[in-house]
Amino acid sequence: SQRTLVILKPDAVRRNLIGEVVGRIERKAGWTISALELRTLEREVLEQHYAEHVGKPFYPPLMDFMTSGPAVVLIVEGERVIEGVRALAGPTDPIAAAPGSIRGDFGTIVRENLIHASDSEESAEREIKIFFPGAA
Ligand code: GTP
Ligand code: MG
Repeated sequence: SQRTLVILKPDAVRRNLIGEVVGRIERKAGWTISALELRTLEREVLEQHYAEHVGKPFYPPLMDFMTSGPAVVLIVEGERVIEGVRALAGPTDPIAAAPGSIRGDFGTIVRENLIHASDSEESAEREIKIFFPGAA
């Protein structure tokens, strides 16, 4: 089985959607939450997480948004969980995301798209080390 790093972004926490989003993940058969923390993310940590986006026009406002309040960081484990959480989330642009997906049901703004989920096994292991150094 796999594990993935999930972040409920500050918009999801501000809008009281933690239970809604975590509930959708929890209800998938066989998936388990193995770490979960409410945490205001530090710029140094996010710089590592979003290293591929440094220098892009959306990077500075993304950093301001991601540090604007507490987020919830989770490790989720289970069958095909990397592809599965991204399917629950929907595409990056919430307007393009189908109703029924997390972004499609709750989002309108590309930056404030509620959730991050690792996009590959390599990303998942890299990101888990960044947010949960003890969970190797
Ligand atoms: P994550 O699951 O959060 O990694 O999203 P993603 O993999 O669907 O998108 P990507 O890794 O390309 O970008 C990371 C985050 O930056 C996105 O989730 C958005 O919050 C934000 N972002 C990406 N592209 C844009 C963009 O073109 N404009 C703006 N404003 N934000 C963007
Ligand atoms: Mg990404």
